[in-house]
Amino acid sequence: MRMYDIILKKRNGGELSDEEIKYFVEGYTHGQIPDYQASALMMAVYFRGMSSFETATLTKYMAQSGDMVDLSSIPGIKVDKHSTGGVGDKTTMVVAPIVASCGVPVAKMSGRGLGHTGGTLDKLESIPGFSTTISSERFVDIVKRIGLCIIGQTANLAPADKKLYALRDVTATVDNISLIAASIMSKKIAAGSDAILLDVKTGSGAFMKTIEDSIRLAQEMVAIGEHAGRKTVALITDMDKPLGKAIGNSLEVAEAVDTLNSHGPSDFTEICIHLAANMLYLAQKGSLEECMHLARQALASGAALEKFREMVISQGGDVTVIDKTALFRKAPISHVVKAKGSGWISSMNTEQCGIASVVLGAGRESKEDMIDHSAGIVLEVKPGDWVNEGDPLAVLYTSRENSVETAENILRKAISTSSERPPKKASIYARVSRDKVEMF
Ligand code: URA
Repeated sequence: MRMYDIILKKRNGGELSDEEIKYFVEGYTHGQIPDYQASALMMAVYFRGMSSFETATLTKYMAQSGDMVDLSSIPGIKVDKHSTGGVGDKTTMVVAPIVASCGVPVAKMSGRGLGHTGGTLDKLESIPGFSTTISSERFVDIVKRIGLCIIGQTANLAPADKKLYALRDVTATVDNISLIAASIMSKKIAAGSDAILLDVKTGSGAFMKTIEDSIRLAQEMVAIGEHAGRKTVALITDMDKPLGKAIGNSLEVAEAVDTLNSHGPSDFTEICIHLAANMLYLAQKGSLEECMHLARQALASGAALEKFREMVISQGGDVTVIDKTALFRKAPISHVVKAKGSGWISSMNTEQCGIASVVLGAGRESKEDMIDHSAGIVLEVKPGDWVNEGDPLAVLYTSRENSVETAENILRKAISTSSERPPKKASIYARVSRDKVEMF
């Protein structure tokens, strides 16, 4: 077999066989196929697309390119969750404890912030002492004992994806639905859970800007998951405004804890309940309606908060900051951004809100950057709110004095006002399962 022929076949619109895809993934992972041939193939895929068979096969070999996590010693149906990424997305810290407190084990590998989006690992690491680098044995032990553990991906999880993602990133071939679906699902399948709930974000802060594209991505991922024998469901949720009010690591942990205490923002709480209910449904805990009830009860009773505390203690974190979030280290500088006029908040460019938080130190501008866990933004308004001149729009937190002006300018441009009240938008648009798309 020759890589040249594989590229030529795809360039001419042909369908690659199982053997050809295997040859490419194994050869590229082991350094036998050079970057220039892999990038030519990625570009051919970008223009020609891939069939469902090709996408599922690419995913299978990418998943098998490294460790396949074995969770079989943990009793019960293990359900994973994946968000395609957003701004202020702290759902895992609420949803995973809800689900675990209902008796469904959650053995979760999470990611770090990428570009303008935050990552659960960075958020959890703002809890002093909290460790996300735990051996596989201890990871499984913690899940067996308390039903919940969240760690970083092991170094050898889907190495083919690591190489291919880095290549796509510099060859303008990231934004292809088949390649994104294969990339995400290869890691989820290798991570070993029996069922997978996907939270596909849509809007100005998400990878997918339109509901139609988000549904297409969700359908691809659900098909791949089911093909690999994992029950898979996706919710399409809103990322046209930041989720909740807090953007930035310890600020988001505090908001997640408020939500676990039943005092979180109502839109964010509602999304968490839906995500948790769908995970419970995948774990066969009852009908969707019964699972919604279970999820609400877990929040209201304090069981989910207690599960989160248990996880923090098991992973070495200082639980006193969870019991009293005011004890989180405070950023030395806080700055209130005030409205310069009156009107309705009509929209927020969510990507720009994320970028403003990165400028303040909450994210990384390059891979090597250190995160300032106390930096970020707390929004005082959201689309649909009325503001008068001088009202606070947001509070910026940082340790970098010289970042305040830039962040304020970015944020001001990101927030649009109007004399007309904007229509109320849904926070969940659709549910995609193996055989149907339900629009809400
Ligand atoms: N996230 C991933 O893990 N992979 C992609 O290709 C895009 C987003």
